[in-house]
Amino acid sequence: MEKLVINGGTRLTGEVTISGAKNAAVAILPATLLIDGVCTIDNLPNISDVKISCDILQTLGAKITWISEHEIEIDTRDISCSRAPLDMTSKFRASYYLLGSLIGRCKDAQVGLPGGCNLGARPIDQHIKGLEALGAKVDVSQGKITAKAKKLVGTSVYMDVVSVGATINIMLAATLAEGTTIIENAAKEPHIVDVANFLNTMGADIRGAGTDVIKINGVKKLKGNTTYSVVPDQIEAGTFMLAAIATKGDILIKNCVTEHLDCVSAKILEMGGNIEGDGDSLRVWINKRPQKANIKTLPYPGFPTDLQPQIGVALAIADGTSYITESIWESRFQYTSELNKMGAKISAHGKTAVFEGVKTLSGAPVYATDLRAGAALLIAGIVASGTTELYNLNHIDRGYENIEEKFRKIGANIQRVTE
Ligand code: EPZ
Repeated sequence: MEKLVINGGTRLTGEVTISGAKNAAVAILPATLLIDGVCTIDNLPNISDVKISCDILQTLGAKITWISEHEIEIDTRDISCSRAPLDMTSKFRASYYLLGSLIGRCKDAQVGLPGGCNLGARPIDQHIKGLEALGAKVDVSQGKITAKAKKLVGTSVYMDVVSVGATINIMLAATLAEGTTIIENAAKEPHIVDVANFLNTMGADIRGAGTDVIKINGVKKLKGNTTYSVVPDQIEAGTFMLAAIATKGDILIKNCVTEHLDCVSAKILEMGGNIEGDGDSLRVWINKRPQKANIKTLPYPGFPTDLQPQIGVALAIADGTSYITESIWESRFQYTSELNKMGAKISAHGKTAVFEGVKTLSGAPVYATDLRAGAALLIAGIVASGTTELYNLNHIDRGYENIEEKFRKIGANIQRVTE
């Protein structure tokens, strides 16, 4: 078993370069199944969710050539199978994008029920509603989802909840459908825009991504023959911004889209931090103890649930009492009991957690309960006095490229140790 051993009490200073976005990459890779040709994807993060996505594409007949650590060429001319291996698809959440892509390309799709972080109930009713509206018959049984259609025909789909995954899945299925599909009450996250940009670069006709109405005019074919670069990771950038605040540090975050981080910047200013940005980089620093702040997680452009645990660490040591309301996932406060082992004073009940700021944290053995919880506990280990041992690294490796190396470069004392 691997663990990170963190000797804490460090102020983080220096420069960090942000990788391509996990949640865009894991949608763009299955989207290549809609192309009858060859394309190149650049700025892919080197993380385990990307590796497994590529492995699955290969089992379906895609030919993948790694050009460099972050760039691949994918040839999807000979897709021979529309049924993805159940054991592979159930390893991560984003495997549900294979449904939209495969039904779009082959009119037949099968994937295992998606796995991924345990954040409470993760229904897929809106994905199914969208695919059925386009003309697919969807069956969920025996741990798998099967979708079949004679043809897909564009229609209007109103999303009952704002869902990133369902918005992207319907966009994928509608790209090669007959006629026009309109998604109302669509999610607006930066990775939705990125997937639409990717598909449009390959020949799709998608308008309005980034607003709550997306219009997809079905096209006959996506041609490929182009290179696409994945957008920088909003959540990784936000993680380092909040690490600067929690450690009373000074970090220059390079290769980020600053407007994607406006909601985080606003909270950091409220907490007494400082921000300087110039379009694709942000300097974040604070010279004193952060101030309390209240947070409510919301779909974009609200404060992202995927940065809730990381800001939780800064609030755990802030001056005053802060409140976080989690409105997306029902079990995203599991990290708070781990933080309490380090001396934090947090009580979480249902959707709300109360953070009574303490002056300092102290090192302890802690367990990453999910991906972002893992990042938060890593930051807590850097803040804390003494040694923290962080376990369950598989969660972190799913979504952060070279995390300990990136933190080491800005001053953290972290070692990965195999027990
Ligand atoms: C995506 O998950 C992200 N994952 C999550 O990031 C992120 O937390 C989440 O969006 C919200 O921003 C990927 O992009 C791979 P949703 P997704 O569908 O698409 C409810 C991380 O740490 N809902 O937007 O699965 C659902 O229960 C991960 O990187 C339905 O009710 O999330 C939730 O309350 C974790 N029915 C809300 O909508 C549905 O059919 C938002 O979920 C779908 C969702």
